[in-house]
Amino acid sequence: MIRETIVTTVSAAGVVHVAPLGIIQDREGWIIAPFRPSTTLDNLRAVPFAVANYTDDVRVFAGSLTGRRDWPTTASDGFPVPRLAGALAHAELAVTGITEDDQRPRFHCGVVRTVSHAPFGGFNRAQAAVIEAAILVSRLNMLPRQKVEADMAYLGIAIAKTAGPQEREAWNWLTEKIRATYASQPPD
Ligand SMILES: Cc1cc2nc3c(=O)[nH]c(=O)nc-3n(C[C@H](O)[C@H](O)[C@H](O)COP(=O)(O)O)c2cc1C
Repeated sequence: MIRETIVTTVSAAGVVHVAPLGIIQDREGWIIAPFRPSTTLDNLRAVPFAVANYTDDVRVFAGSLTGRRDWPTTASDGFPVPRLAGALAHAELAVTGITEDDQRPRFHCGVVRTVSHAPFGGFNRAQAAVIEAAILVSRLNMLPRQKVEADMAYLGIAIAKTAGPQEREAWNWLTEKIRATYASQPPD
């Protein structure tokens, strides 16, 4: 089982990094599996701790893929990595082992502590649609343009019917990124 989270890490110099990553359930813990090259990967080697932030603000997912990474973070008591200030909950993770791989090393993590900050507000289809669209945007260079455009047309139905302002803003960032990427390429 994979949970789509915002992972915060820090570099050796203490610079905080925010990245959307699907963490993979691993018995009591979680696996973080960044594709090379990755700042998250470099940070986990330098400082082997991370925070998995559970948030329903899908702008953080869409923003991180469209050059908007400056999301507010806040220190977590006694833990070396800050959490996302707007997280509904977060899990503090400590790396317990690494499975090396040329493309995608796997960082096995134990849960040090989980803390709740705000209630889960229920499912929203537009939030799910933004997450799916963010995945498409993270793979634009690998996916056929026709598939991306067909999937975006389908996901756009949930946006039109169920989005609030945050989901609409996130959606607009992603559609603009897709438009700009294809504007600089010849059609298929
Ligand atoms: C919902 C979602 C899940 C993602 N999961 C992963 C993942 O498991 N591994 C990965 O390498 N990239 C994943 N990505 C893409 C990364 O967010 C993106 O490549 C990011 O910039 C990671 O690189 P960084 O550590 O250098 O920031 C995901 C993106 C989204 C939107």
